[in-house]
Amino acid sequence: MAGIKNWLAESFPIDQEALIKLTAEPIPNHLKRWWWALGGTPLYMFVVQIITGIMLIFYYVPDADKAYESVAYITYTAKFGWLIRSIHRWSSNIMIAALILHMMRVFFTQTYRKPREMNWMFGVVLFLLVLMFGFTGYSLVYEQMSYWAMKVGTGIAGATPFIGGWIADFMRGGSEIGQNTLTRFYLFHVVLLPILTMLAVGIHLYLIRTHGVSELKFKGDEKKEKKTFPLFPDHVYTELIMVSIIMVVLVVLSLLFPAQLGDPANPNVTPLHIKPEWYFYPVFRWLKITNLTVGVLGPMVFLAILFFWPFIDRFFEKKLPGKELGFWIGILGMLLINVFLLWEIVGH
Ligand code: HEM
Repeated sequence: MAGIKNWLAESFPIDQEALIKLTAEPIPNHLKRWWWALGGTPLYMFVVQIITGIMLIFYYVPDADKAYESVAYITYTAKFGWLIRSIHRWSSNIMIAALILHMMRVFFTQTYRKPREMNWMFGVVLFLLVLMFGFTGYSLVYEQMSYWAMKVGTGIAGATPFIGGWIADFMRGGSEIGQNTLTRFYLFHVVLLPILTMLAVGIHLYLIRTHGVSELKFKGDEKKEKKTFPLFPDHVYTELIMVSIIMVVLVVLSLLFPAQLGDPANPNVTPLHIKPEWYFYPVFRWLKITNLTVGVLGPMVFLAILFFWPFIDRFFEKKLPGKELGFWIGILGMLLINVFLLWEIVGH
């Protein structure tokens, strides 16, 4: 045994001291509150997506004539295929819901402020990447909704001023939805987006590690002694409990509401109601109540504001110190998004 240990230490040297230092990072005590540590949830969901996604690739065929059949095979014939597919679906939804909550926590505790501006911006990029995962994944099923979501989605992208036509053609791989579109969406979903997301998550975590997680401070807290607890094992144990709970929730949801399969894609029949996934509902409703150009420019302006928010907020603070204008703009924005979301749920 000692021989193997020595051989390993020689052939794969690990700096034990550095490893202990890295894993024993002190974490502020308020991270024991789940809402403060919500960033961990999208991280496990991402791991679940990678594992179940690899399993799905074993059977999925990215061919416009066979894609739907292969998803039908996964759903009805392959052993536990329905479960893996359902977990992949539910996990993507929970990932996006947790991401939105994580963003709200960061926004309303104003922890995007100096020195964390850059990390907020990487966060917005991550959010966009995750939304793109949702859109491309939905399309791969190649059922009616997938086809028409691709049609509408690429049409909307096409309305971008100046470069819209180029973007739409690039997404479709030509002027029509077809094999080229499926190949591109597949490549995005299983290769490019995972690589970009892993890179962005790596940078995000690196910046969190170097800045440290922000302190939760109330008036008078300056004098209090800073309480911390170690990342390993304390925080990791808490996170493992969260992982176990989420895994149970995922399986229960998949058993009760397994992923469905609609009719196969048919370019000649437009469905009565085209519906994207719930997280696109607010944008979809906005598009319905405006014209295409305003419909496309609105979300772009929203994204630009979100991306540069730390600087916009700093500008407001300088002009109107102590008025917390940024906070109230955030509340108003949330209200508007929720109104559009509900409107799309109840309306046609
Ligand atoms: C896959 C996506 C993401 C993952 C895995 C992730 C993960 C994390 C983790 C583990 C933390 C440590 C504290 C906590 O758990 O809340 C954190 C903090 C942070 N996240 Fe994220 N995050 C993601 C997306 C985002 C998004 C979309 C934003 C904002 C647009 C964002 C902005 C931030 C900021 C500014 C911090 C530092 C906050 C502080 O120190 O209090 N993150 N993130």
